Amino acid sequence: MTVWYVLSAFALILVATGLLYWVLVNGMYREDVSDLGDILENATLLLRASNGYSAASPALQPARITRHRSDIYVRVLEADGRTVIETPGLASQLLAPSKAQLAAVRSRQGESRQVLSRRGEPFLTLIAPIGGLRAGAPRQYMEVAMDRAHDEILLARYRERLWRILGVSLVLCSVVGYLIARGGMHPIEGISRTAERIRATTLHERISTGGLPEELRGLAETFNSMLDRLEQSFRHISQFSDDVAHELRTPINNLRGEIEVALGKARSAEEYREVLGSCFEECTRISRLIRTLLFLARADTAADALQREPIDLGEELAKVGAFYEAAAGEGDIQLRVAGASGLRAELDRTLLQQAIGNLVSNALAHTPAGGSVEVAASTRGQDVVITVADTGCGIAQEHLSRVFERFYRIEQSRTGSQQNAGLGLAVVKSIVSRHGGRVEIESQVGAGTRVSLVLPPSAAARGQLTKS
Ligand SMILES: Nc1ncnc2c1ncn2[C@@H]1O[C@H](COP(=O)(O)OP(=O)(O)OP(=O)(O)O)[C@@H](O)[C@H]1O
Ligand SMILES: [Mg+2]
Repeated sequence: MTVWYVLSAFALILVATGLLYWVLVNGMYREDVSDLGDILENATLLLRASNGYSAASPALQPARITRHRSDIYVRVLEADGRTVIETPGLASQLLAPSKAQLAAVRSRQGESRQVLSRRGEPFLTLIAPIGGLRAGAPRQYMEVAMDRAHDEILLARYRERLWRILGVSLVLCSVVGYLIARGGMHPIEGISRTAERIRATTLHERISTGGLPEELRGLAETFNSMLDRLEQSFRHISQFSDDVAHELRTPINNLRGEIEVALGKARSAEEYREVLGSCFEECTRISRLIRTLLFLARADTAADALQREPIDLGEELAKVGAFYEAAAGEGDIQLRVAGASGLRAELDRTLLQQAIGNLVSNALAHTPAGGSVEVAASTRGQDVVITVADTGCGIAQEHLSRVFERFYRIEQSRTGSQQNAGLGLAVVKSIVSRHGGRVEIESQVGAGTRVSLVLPPSAAARGQLTKS
């Protein structure tokens, strides 16, 4: 960062200085040319006034215009290049222009050019046609020359100063660039120090956004909100492991207790059979629980892909209805399947059956004798909606938002309702969200509960839906 800053700042200064130098050189040159023009005009007038060719004419004396100004020389030439008259000593310094050079002068204002004297000094000359000095004489040319050695010295001094200034600016740019880069990096170092400190045990730490510049505040806030999400997920996972341990402890303790009692003394074959039967039941429950947990964990990491296939929802709901018919009859509950004929969707058959099954078994479990449970399918826009509604006990408002959490049961005692792990609705939610859909629940205490699965009918439609 420092190097880039120094390079760009120095390049800017270099360009600006170069430009200024060019303007100065150009300005001096143009001024000299314009001075020569004036001098040429004056000299013409003076020579004409002194009636021509007098070498004593003031126009021909080497002149120093100001104290700092270089020497000025004048020369009058015929069109064929012969010198008519000139400032004494000029011939030893400057070669006279050739006939071709004179012929090339077109403009009345004259033409300027830079030449070197016989001794190598820089001269600026201006050659202009002046007409004959005496009336009727043929066309002549006047050349005025200026020794620019003084200008060159000035420019050389100026250049030397420029190099010095550039050297100092390079040093200054480096120092300032380093300071700016360090100032800019300081808050980033703070952020990375905080990030380095954060462990699973210090997930509550946040980057303080107080003294941060505007550009970095956004980054810090994004980082902090990522930490919020991580902390929340982490808390969920810890809570989940805690719950899993609790859930498994109870049935395993039961198993252990039963076996311990059975081993306490010699028992009859019938008694052993009874204990083994109860142990088997407990083992079945544990293995079901473990299977469900594994299912949820896999769904979280999306390890198993969905096996979508075109499904006739009418057929599928009828199968579920037939499966639960006996259980409903036992509880004297009327189980109805409605309105799904002809509805088709691309869903995972096994998962769909599991989700509807969980809902129906919940509905049957919470509906008293004489009540009814209805399973129905319909469409809402592009979506397919599968609804399970009962006339059961209903769910109080304060539980409604939490029933989809893992291990959440309204009858809290874990020892009491051993059959229920509190995972049924969590599994339903996971299945539906893997299909790209959502679950809706409405319930009124004493009146009943209605759970709706809103599912996009196919993977393609899901793409469209998420886009819109
Ligand atoms: N149709 C319903 N009517 C009344 N309460 C319900 C209904 N469905 C679910 N609940 C309540 O929501 C809680 C969570 O249901 P969920 O299906 O997740 O767990 P569960 O039925 O207790 O256990 P699992 O389904 O794992 O055997 C249940 O404890 C129950 O109290
Ligand atoms: Mg359930």
